[in-house]
Amino acid sequence: MTRHIFVLTGAGVSAESGLGTFRDKAGEGIWAQFDPMKLATPEAFAHDPETVLAFYDARRRNLLSAAPNAAHTALARLEATLASAGGELSLVTQNIDDLHERAGSQRVIHMHGELLKARCLNCECVHLWPEDLPASESCPACRTGGLRPHIVWFGEMPFHKDEIEQALARADFFVAIGTSGAVYPAAGFAAEARALGIPTLEINLKAADNAVIFDAARYGPASVIVPAWVEEVTVGLGGKI
Ligand code: OAD
Repeated sequence: MTRHIFVLTGAGVSAESGLGTFRDKAGEGIWAQFDPMKLATPEAFAHDPETVLAFYDARRRNLLSAAPNAAHTALARLEATLASAGGELSLVTQNIDDLHERAGSQRVIHMHGELLKARCLNCECVHLWPEDLPASESCPACRTGGLRPHIVWFGEMPFHKDEIEQALARADFFVAIGTSGAVYPAAGFAAEARALGIPTLEINLKAADNAVIFDAARYGPASVIVPAWVEEVTVGLGGKI
């Protein structure tokens, strides 16, 4: 019986909450409208911090007016169910939103950072930051450094690499939800899971770039497919919630 499930989520899990995805096949994704090289790199921030900060201010405001959907809620329920059955859920997200937490997930590994946090460029202290972030703002801890969004930009290392690798090695089931499989290292986790002999499932609106890697797939909106899948897993664990 499955006891340790590793879930990787991407922008698709938050799409029905009104947060855009990055790579939409209809060409309406965030990176089709905005140039990531001008907004999501350390070089862009050094060159034009006001433009970069304004982009993230807009996304932060959008996030604050959004709410978790049924997929987030189902994953929070799965975490509680597994814990009560002596198991574990490792929830690793590429998303910078806090919708998993607001749905009730207790432990979320944000490998690409968090939109509601800011980091000092000097002392690297991380602060909760739910408001707009002006370029003139300085670190509340050291008072000298400027602040940047606590987000992993292109060319930077994702967070929590060791913790993620350890969780993957302990897992007995791997699920990727709402991710295009286009950005590494997250896009490589399914292949790593397979190499470890762990069964893999893709839940997505449409087949991801790396769909062939998965043992099984379920296609449709996350708000429908994820609760149905969680229900099946829960029944398999004796229905305990
Ligand atoms: P993408 O925008 O690349 O992919 C979103 C995926 O979600 C696609 O496979 C869609 O088919 C799927 N999708 C859309 N709506 C859905 C729905 N309602 N239900 C289920 N699936 C749906 O987003 P990510 O794979 O998360 O990084 O992108 C990875 C990283 O690229 C992001 O974390 C971000 C971006 O650059 C950084 O900003 C560092």
